[in-house]
This record gives sequence, structure tokens and C-alpha cells, in this order.
Amino acid sequence: MALRFHRPSLLHHQPPQCPPKPAPRRPLSSPPHYFSSYTPTATPPTPLLMSGSSASSEPLGTSTRRWSWGRRLRTHPQLAVKAASSAPAHIQVGDNPNNPTEDSPSSAAPSPAVSFRSREPKDVTVVVTGSTGYIGKFVVRELVRRGFNVVAVARERSGIRARNDREKTVQELRGATVCFSDVTDLDILQGSLEGFGGAPVDVVVCCLASRSGGIKDSWQIDYGATKNSLVAGCGRGAAHFVLLSAICVQKPLLEFQRAKLKFEAELEEAALSSGGSLTYSIVRPTAFFKSLGGQVEIVKDGKPYVMFGDGKLCACKPISEEDLASFIVDCVMDDDKINKILPIGGPGKALTPLEQGEMLFRLLGKEPKFLKVPIGVMDFAIGVLDFLVKIFPSLEDAAEFGKIGRYYAAESMLVLDPETGEYSAEKTPSYGKDTLEEFFKRVIREGMAGQELGEQSIF
Ligand SMILES: NC(=O)c1ccc[n+]([C@@H]2O[C@H](COP(=O)([O-])OP(=O)(O)OC[C@H]3O[C@@H](n4cnc5c(N)ncnc54)[C@H](OP(=O)(O)O)[C@@H]3O)[C@@H](O)[C@H]2O)c1
Repeated sequence: MALRFHRPSLLHHQPPQCPPKPAPRRPLSSPPHYFSSYTPTATPPTPLLMSGSSASSEPLGTSTRRWSWGRRLRTHPQLAVKAASSAPAHIQVGDNPNNPTEDSPSSAAPSPAVSFRSREPKDVTVVVTGSTGYIGKFVVRELVRRGFNVVAVARERSGIRARNDREKTVQELRGATVCFSDVTDLDILQGSLEGFGGAPVDVVVCCLASRSGGIKDSWQIDYGATKNSLVAGCGRGAAHFVLLSAICVQKPLLEFQRAKLKFEAELEEAALSSGGSLTYSIVRPTAFFKSLGGQVEIVKDGKPYVMFGDGKLCACKPISEEDLASFIVDCVMDDDKINKILPIGGPGKALTPLEQGEMLFRLLGKEPKFLKVPIGVMDFAIGVLDFLVKIFPSLEDAAEFGKIGRYYAAESMLVLDPETGEYSAEKTPSYGKDTLEEFFKRVIREGMAGQELGEQSIF
């Protein structure tokens, strides 16, 4: 894929001119030109290339190789240079008493490497992968609004069913530098980030997610491409990684959850062993509005509200795109969000499907009409699909989608209290101001535009 870059154009809406083709890729054994002014002899992070990129011959997620990114990051001259260059003059990397050592927990106080936090947002470069997604778009918008220097990584065709061309993508990501690249290929991604010749990368925000939710795609995106974002970002000096994950990974029964969890664990390990030069924030939101709005127009048309069991099997504290994006952007600079897993919900109390349905009928001024489907129906369908997969392996994604549907029908999107083993609304933090009630009112008025579900129509 050709690499192209759009510089942000705040003054006019024409897609800005692409610069000439980026400089030829440096040989992997030579230092990136970017760092040459600091350490001409620096060697590139070649070992980090052993990532889950699509070039790997090993199936993603099944690798038995142990990764030790942190050790490589710590010993990597480029990253040390970056850490040193961003540290106040009186602090040297390695001798800061606040620096976590190999044995100390990664939740220690911020190290010199995160001193980008002392700069103005305009002097902080944030790379966003998954920038064209439901949440990613709002993250880019919020970063731009707060004045950060934003590099949004996107595909040549983006959006649900690839409906946006480059021009539309650039329009949607106004104010950011759009870097057209391929996150599934580490070499290409690294080349892209080297190619734009801008400021060093300070932070990576990853909002990538499989569009299909299929097994292979989940491993390729929620694990492999996410990992590529980290490796490529760190190769450009990133000192902080913000990951958009999901609260449901607490109880991992699905492949995309396992893929996310595997990356989360590796990210924590990398930060722990980086000597403080890499920190992270893992954001685990509850349900998005788009996942709860699917029945508004159906009910408006007079049909019953469908729910499983008695409608109380699961609950969530839904959060809007704007509110979640704001929380994610807080994670870029806030010291109190460093090296933490951050479950997050929207404002107000947790709502069951029954309560959501009641709210909807009230807003529509209609008599409540529910269709209660026994959860066993789903179990039966999943059982049949699991059996068929043994004969027709090509049905494995269909079986997985059944399991995803079953999971969301029965599991709460709330913090799972380790003491009780129960979901806890009280332990699920709230953030923001947008309520589901306001969202339902808007969908009743204006429809679900902008709230479309992914290709599998499940989430
Ligand atoms: N739905 C919920 O209620 C809920 C609740 C909590 C957490 N979450 C989590 O939130 C995360 C983000 O969700 P979302 O709804 O914002 O996701 P989304 O709208 O599906 O966006 C996915 C992003 O990843 C990119 N992507 C996917 N496959 C790609 C590929 N092969 N190559 C390059 N880019 C690729 C997409 O790019 P393109 O535009 O080019 O396709 C898009 O930017 C997910 O991890 C999800 O599990 C969801």
C-alpha cells in the first residue's frame, strides 16, 4: 500500500496536499534519521519486529514465544535517548529514585520519561490508531479540541464496510494529520510514522477493534495490530500508551476478549520492565450507546421490546462517545491515570434491559410491551452451531457471533467484584454527563444515524 500523509488543514476544508513520497525506508539495521541527531549509532528495535504482524508465520495469539518488550524498550538506545531528551536537565534516566526498578510495581510515580505532561498540549504529539472508529473519531476530535498535535492513522478506505474514501476520512478527522497506513503490517506502520517527519511521538492512543468480531480478525486487530501500534509508537519515542479495551474482558469467554487480555498483559509487562520509560492507561468502558439503541426505532414502530429471561440478567452504565473520548483524552496527561486499569461507565445508575425498555415506552408514551426470550434458546442455537463447526469449520465465526450475542444477553457490563464474584454497580465508576434517556430521545427524533453497529450487527 502506498504511504500518503495529509497535513492538518484548519483554515480550509480542502484535503491538504500530500507531500512527495516519503523518503525510502531506512534499512532496518540503520538508525532512523529522526534520532540521528541524538545518537548516530543507535540501533533500531529490530527484536521488536517479532510482533504479531501479518507477516508472522505463526498464527496470531498462538505464539509460545515469550515477549520481553520492556527489557528491549529499556535497553533500546533510541528510547533511552528519547527518555533522556524529555527529562528535565537535572534528572538522568536510570538514577531517578522514582523510577520503578525491575522488581518494583509499575504503578510507581511517573518517571522522567513521561515529562511530556509538563508541556503544552500543542507540543505533545499523540498518535491515534483506530481513529476512524465509533470512539476513535471522537477521541481525535477531543484531542484536537484540547490543542494536541494529533496524528490519526487510517486506512485508505475506512468506516463500516469501508464506505469512506480518503477525502471523507480527512474531513472526518479535521485538525489531525492523517497518516494513511496499514496497522496490520508493522513494517508499513513503522515506515509511515517515520515518513511524516514531524515531532517525536509522545503518546499512542489505540482505539482499534475488529470490525467483524470474527476469531481470526480479532486476533489480528485486537491483539496483533494493537501490538504493532505500541511497537511502532515506541520506536518513535512514545512514552505512554492509552488502550481502549472493554469491561467485559474481566470474564473472558470470547476470542476478542482473550485477544485484548493478552495484549493488556503484555503492555503491563512492557511497562513494568521498561524502567519507567513506558507507562500505560487501560480504559475498560461499559456499554456504548450504539449497542443499546437498536430497538428504539422498532419499538417506535409498535413492535415489542425484546429481552432475555426476565430482563434483569444483565445491567450496564452506558457511556456516550463524547464522554468516553473525553475520559480517554484525560488519560493522556493525568498523572493519576498512569499504569492503571480504568473501568468506566456513564452517569446515573446501572440499568437492566427491563429498565431500558420501560424508559423507552415512557418516552414514546406507549404502553409497555415486552417479548421475553428464554436464554436457553440461545444456548440451544450455540450448541447446534458448535456441533456444525466440527463438520464445517468455516462456520466458526457464526458460532462465535452466537456466543457474543449470548454473552451480552446475560453478562453485566459492570465491575466484577473480586470479593463477591458479583457484578457491582457501586464499584463501577461513572464519568460524563450524557444519559441514555437523552440518547433515546435523540434517536426517537433523529434516528440512529452515526450509531450503526459493526459488520456483524452485534456490537
Ligand atoms: N460496543 C460496546 O458497547 C463496547 C463497550 C465497551 C468496549 N467496547 C470496545 O471498544 C472498542 C472500540 O469500539 P468501536 O465501536 O469504536 O470500534 P469500531 O467502530 O468498530 O472501530 C474500529 C476501528 O479499528 C479499525 N480497524 C478495524 N479493522 C482494521 C484493519 N483490518 N485494519 C486497519 N484498521 C482496522 C477501524 O478502521 P476502519 O474505519 O478503517 O475500518 C476503526 O478505526 C472495541 O475494542 C470494543 O470491544 C465496545
